[in-house]
Parts: sequence; C-alpha cells; structure tokens
Amino acid sequence: MQIIKTRDYDHMSRMAANIIAAQVIMKPDCVLGLATGSTPVGTYEELVRRYDKGELDFSTVTSINLDEYKGLSPENDQSYRYFMNTHLFSHVNIDPEKTYVPNGLEPDSEKACAAYNAVIRQAGGIDLQLLGLGHNGHIGFNEPSDIFEKETHCVDLTQSTIDANSRFFASMDEVPKQAYTMGIGTIMQAKKVLVVVSGKAKAQIVKDAFFGPCTPQVPASILQLHSDVILVGDEEALSLIP
Ligand code: F6R
Repeated sequence: MQIIKTRDYDHMSRMAANIIAAQVIMKPDCVLGLATGSTPVGTYEELVRRYDKGELDFSTVTSINLDEYKGLSPENDQSYRYFMNTHLFSHVNIDPEKTYVPNGLEPDSEKACAAYNAVIRQAGGIDLQLLGLGHNGHIGFNEPSDIFEKETHCVDLTQSTIDANSRFFASMDEVPKQAYTMGIGTIMQAKKVLVVVSGKAKAQIVKDAFFGPCTPQVPASILQLHSDVILVGDEEALSLIP
C-alpha cells in the first residue's frame, strides 16, 4: 500500500485528482469506479477545474458508481445519481450513457443487482476505484458483517443511518430503508484502489482498517490484501497510523 500524507483537505483533493487524472490520461477509455459522500467532493471539483482548463477529456471514460438508495429516483436530490450529476457528470464531457449508478427505482432487488453485475462485467471490470471510508469501516454500503459480500447486493440500512438521513426528507416514509451496493469482491477486483480520508474523526478507523486485523467487521480492512492501494489522507486522518 502506498500512503500519501497531505497537509489538509484541499491538498488531499488535489493529490487524489492527480491520480484520477493520470488514469484518464494514460487510458482514455478507462473505467472509473466512483464514490459519493463528502470526502471526494473536493476531488471532483478539482477534476472539473482541470477539465475547464482543457487538461482532461472524459469523452471515452466509463464510470460505475458504488451505490444508490433503493426507491430514490435520479431527480431526487438525495439520490447518488443526483449527487454525481451535480458534482461531476454535468460539468465534464463524459457520455451520460456511459455513467452507471445502480437503478434505485428497480423494486426487484435481484433484478437490480444482476443488472449492475452485468454492467460491471460488460465494462471489463474497474481500472481505478475511488473509495471513501465510513466511520465504522464501511466501503460502499458494505457495512460491518460476518462475511464479505462478493457482488452487488441489497442492504438493509441500519436504524441509525435511517434516522440520520431523515433530516433530508419531508417525512419518515420517504427515507430510504435499503440501498444497492457494489460488493467487496468487485471492489477487490479493481486494478487500482484510491482511498480518500480527511479529518480527525477518521483517524481511528484509518488505523483499524489499514493496520488492524483483516475482518468483515471492518470491511475496508480487506484492502490490506489488495496489491495496488493508494491511501491519500490529510494529516489529521493519518495521525494515528504507525
Ligand atoms: C459513498 C459511499 C460511502 C462513503 C462513506 C464515507 O458512495 O459509498 O461508503 O464513501 O460513507 O463518507 P464521507 O466521505 O461522507 O465521510
């Protein structure tokens, strides 16, 4: 594993953008695995800046996102499709037909997951997978569990996640109770994995995930077994690592 220690969030975002930009430049028809959440927002902003300067061309890139809430439409501003459109896709020349997010509106979980697995297979797998890290070690919506789930699956959100999300919705009924997520096996098959972490609140889980035992109770810990992982974090997030 390669660790890149950065001064702060902006520096982390620029370094992560460097790695994604290098991937796009070296393989213009690459498959990027993308993440939502607050951590990669600055990375996407930086990529958009470089696109605006004429330094990047996304026209032959394919993107495959990690996850989506079940039941949310792409127009819902809490959906991950909406997030990706807002933060990246609408600002660069990526072909919308080549941007994939699990279909939150497919009520049949088996169908939704099988379709997404087929998308990943047809794309030939993922060249570079961008990941954020949950406070409990989750990656995508792969929460602590007794097993590492291999492929795309439907997850029951924990009550604490449902409660935390409720502030974004008009009523409790509208809050998603489930999500579709890429599996750990698929993430591990990505040729390269880029993990971004920022802030003191992530320091303990960074230590547990990358220097503790490899266990499905800390899903990100499996990344210790991947042969090409780059962890880009600011000083605070990396403050507890040996
Ligand atoms: C996002 C995702 C999540 C986040 C994680 C960290 O698509 O799959 O695993 O990466 O929850 O979120 P932030 O970056 O908001 O701390």
